[in-house]
Amino acid sequence: MFVLIWATLLFSVRVSDAETGSSVWGKQSRPLTDYCITLVEGEITAEAGLCVVIPCSFTVPEDIKVLHIVWFKCESTKQRCGDGDRIFNSNTFSDKVQSEFKGRVSLLESDVSQKNCSIIVNDLKESDSGTYQLKVNTSPSEGSYNFLQRATVSVQGLSQRPTVMIPPLTEGQLTTLTCTAPGLCSGSEPTFTWRWRGRGESDADLTGNITAFETENVAEFAKRRSSTLSFSPSAEHHGTNITCTVLFQGHVSTEETATLSVSCE
Ligand SMILES: *[C@@H]1O[C@H](CO)[C@@H](O)[C@H](O)[C@H]1NC(C)=O
Ligand SMILES: *[C@@H]1O[C@H](CO)[C@@H](O)[C@H](O)[C@H]1NC(C)=O
Ligand SMILES: *[C@@H]1O[C@H](CO)[C@@H](O)[C@H](O)[C@H]1NC(C)=O
Repeated sequence: MFVLIWATLLFSVRVSDAETGSSVWGKQSRPLTDYCITLVEGEITAEAGLCVVIPCSFTVPEDIKVLHIVWFKCESTKQRCGDGDRIFNSNTFSDKVQSEFKGRVSLLESDVSQKNCSIIVNDLKESDSGTYQLKVNTSPSEGSYNFLQRATVSVQGLSQRPTVMIPPLTEGQLTTLTCTAPGLCSGSEPTFTWRWRGRGESDADLTGNITAFETENVAEFAKRRSSTLSFSPSAEHHGTNITCTVLFQGHVSTEETATLSVSCE
């Protein structure tokens, strides 16, 4: 009788485990003893200069422990990417990755035992378009497993523009304009340039009055993505254009122009 109760208990625990598993993985009756990867179906599109997240999760057989995960990018015609195609390795002691991806790829979840292989690739270039493949290095017995299914990324030219915020302008009163870069990326800080074109004048760079990164009470992240310009407008600024240019890594730039409207005191 006692044994029977134990057996029943054990059985119900296993069933509820399996149910938790199947609620994550959809209603499949597949036991959690397989190598399986979940990726976005179809192409993930992104823009040059910005970043892309490749959502990814996987399962391994229950008796297998994941030590490290390695991402590759190679021709879709290759059945398995080679060592030279590595773009990321969670084993920081072995950072042999393609030089052009160095420092641009990171895991969203650093604990690989969570089986969350999502990565973010920053400072995108159009040449980052292609197929990405995952390998897991496992123990015991120092094995590894290459998942065949791949993620496809397509990087297009940058079309998003910065946002220029202009408060109401009054002659003689110090005002601050804000230019915010597009994209919510954690890559390199972009460079901002403000240009002002007076009537009948050529472009004048307003670098003298740029007070970038001085906005207070803004999260560090937001500061890195925006620049402020403080100046006192005069009548001659009325009807003129101000342009904010944002330059990302890899000579990718985008700009936005706004027309100033200055009122008298
Ligand atoms: C992976 O981790 C990221 C960051 O914590 C999270 O946003 C994402 O939902 C996770 N994915 C899965 C499948 O758990
Ligand atoms: C910068 O702004 C201050 C205050 O508006 C002004 O007096 C000064 O001439 C400006 N400097 C340049 C280089 O435009
Ligand atoms: C200001 O920009 C608008 C459109 O962006 C353009 O039509 C206009 O000619 C520009 N004015 C000057 C003075 O450059």
